[in-house]
Amino acid sequence: MTTKLIAPSILAADFANLQRDIEMVNQSDADWFHIDIMDGVFVPNISYGMPVLKAINKHAQKTIDVHLMIVDPDRYISEFAELGADNLTVHYEACTHLHRTLQAIKAEGMKAGVAINPHTSVDLLQDVIQDIDLVCLMSVNPGFGGQSFIENTYKKVQRLKEIIITHNATTLIEIDGGVTDENAARLIEAGADVLVAGSFVFKAKDQIKTIKNLKLLANS
Ligand code: DX5
Ligand code: ZN
Repeated sequence: MTTKLIAPSILAADFANLQRDIEMVNQSDADWFHIDIMDGVFVPNISYGMPVLKAINKHAQKTIDVHLMIVDPDRYISEFAELGADNLTVHYEACTHLHRTLQAIKAEGMKAGVAINPHTSVDLLQDVIQDIDLVCLMSVNPGFGGQSFIENTYKKVQRLKEIIITHNATTLIEIDGGVTDENAARLIEAGADVLVAGSFVFKAKDQIKTIKNLKLLANS
């Protein structure tokens, strides 16, 4: 079995101590930095943008996994590549020509991800699954950290895993929103490969230990 990955979401970090929190992730058992970019249009919140990503990239020593919650993401693909994104995930609901967008992301040398909202069926990805490196299944409505996990996600993970296997694809399944030590093992069992965790990690007293435990739960 391949190693299951943990991706702390920087949205929940202390922005006044961002370098400290980035170093904590560097030192931890985490695998990726999950970076949420919100535009106030696709989602009802604005997070941070290019200058902050540039600063994060200066210190981050692990894969940079960028989750774009923005309309018209095609406009910024090359800029995110220049800023150091390793994975670039766009929302299914924000892309009229998803296949074209995925090719454009790969042409810039990044892994191409597609995020889907809780109401969007995983079956809609069947015709492009072989072109997708990573599906980010939203287990909350995107826009905010700290929300409760939507239980229907387990079924979606299982169905998506079936689709990936049927199409002989190598797509990773990432779960984003409300991940804790209570749902991690069941998500992995259902077929997840990457667990994003924001509040659960950064609100913990011992963040390094919390990441270590999540990683153990995901790989036991
Ligand atoms: C939500 C973001 C998530 C968020 C997860 O729109 O995409 O990545 O930071 O935060 P938690 O783990 O607190 O639900
Ligand atoms: Zn996210």
